[in-house]
Amino acid sequence: MSWIDDKARVELARVREAREKQVYPYFREFETGGLHTTIGGQPIVNFSSNDYLGLTNHPKVKEAAKRAVDKYACGLSSSRVQATTVEHVELERRLAKWFGYETCVMFTTGYQAMLGTIVSLADKETTLVLDSYSHACILDGTFLAAGIPGRAPEVRFFNHNSARSLERILKTRERKNALVVVEGVYSLDGDKAHLAEFVDICDRYEAVLCVDDAHGTGTLGERGTGILEETGLRDRAPILVSTFSKTFGGIGGLLLASDEVCDLVKHNARSFLFSASLPVPIVAAASTILDMLEADGPKLVKELHDKAGYMRKNLLDAGFDLGASNTHIMPVMCREERKTLFMHVALLECGVMMVPITYPGVKHGEERLRVNVTRGHTQEDMDLALELLKTYGEAFFVLSGEDIGPMVD
Ligand SMILES: Cc1ncc(COP(=O)(O)O)c(C=O)c1O
Repeated sequence: MSWIDDKARVELARVREAREKQVYPYFREFETGGLHTTIGGQPIVNFSSNDYLGLTNHPKVKEAAKRAVDKYACGLSSSRVQATTVEHVELERRLAKWFGYETCVMFTTGYQAMLGTIVSLADKETTLVLDSYSHACILDGTFLAAGIPGRAPEVRFFNHNSARSLERILKTRERKNALVVVEGVYSLDGDKAHLAEFVDICDRYEAVLCVDDAHGTGTLGERGTGILEETGLRDRAPILVSTFSKTFGGIGGLLLASDEVCDLVKHNARSFLFSASLPVPIVAAASTILDMLEADGPKLVKELHDKAGYMRKNLLDAGFDLGASNTHIMPVMCREERKTLFMHVALLECGVMMVPITYPGVKHGEERLRVNVTRGHTQEDMDLALELLKTYGEAFFVLSGEDIGPMVD
């Protein structure tokens, strides 16, 4: 056995232990698509999905993808530089208009969109200013930029969502240019960025604001275009990054900015230039969801908000701690790893999937179940989830906050 096998054995000790205790919660195998699926033949309602408007499995979306398979198959066998279709360009044009930016560039994933944007824009004259809760794609883009010889930007973090902390960092930065990157909605906590304060501070310190609105797209603002629509701050954020992997029913990343900034990123971002072009069936699916948002956005968003409001009220009335959440993403805080894993397993056995988030995904004491309410959930789904959460929340002392006691071996 070589050192890589030794390394894997040592580093996977926690995973092995969880599997032995039958509480390992990840990589469960769905047998159909959709919020209502099966695992091992058992019906499951998925409450950890990011299909926020429940459109991913809409028959029209699937039909559009099938037609595109006939025309283009499932891949274009190259990167956008030599594998761009009229469908890509048309959707980029429509998305730019819908979001209210000059131009849109579609990447193959949102992760790549953020990587490419950061690496293209942040160089040695730049201070990158990041929220301390930043998503992996923001951190990885930053690490990549910081690792390029002779180009590394200064990197500074501000306390999560703290305008005072952001101001302190911008005031004391060492480089001429500043790029502030925040998320519209933080995916683990479900809280919104304090954008109204941030845009003023960015103006005062001549910093450019980049918003990753992966979780706000389709869920915030009357038409569903996101946090910038909701706050009326579209003109104050020169860069928006988003994804097709949540509301837009597939996979794919978006950069929205001015013509020139998009052109710069398009010609510099290695995550764009050296990775395969988005398959056209995916483009067709996203385009069909955009049709629906253009036609019915306000109705779709309101339906999501009504369901999220119902779930929030009932979870709070039952005594659950939802942390800092003020959106459809409502983490049920268990604040202990075993409680979180036991809750997950008990709920799953009863047909409700809520994925546990534990260390190192969150700090010790902040363990939680991931609960995302979507427009696709029915009243029965929500009532079942609420009943089970209450039953097991009491059984595993999540509601009382008492110590659960030692794990029985
Ligand atoms: C805030 C945020 N940004 C970016 C991404 C990456 O998106 P994608 O799944 O398209 O790579 C995610 C996905 O989890 C996310 O939560």
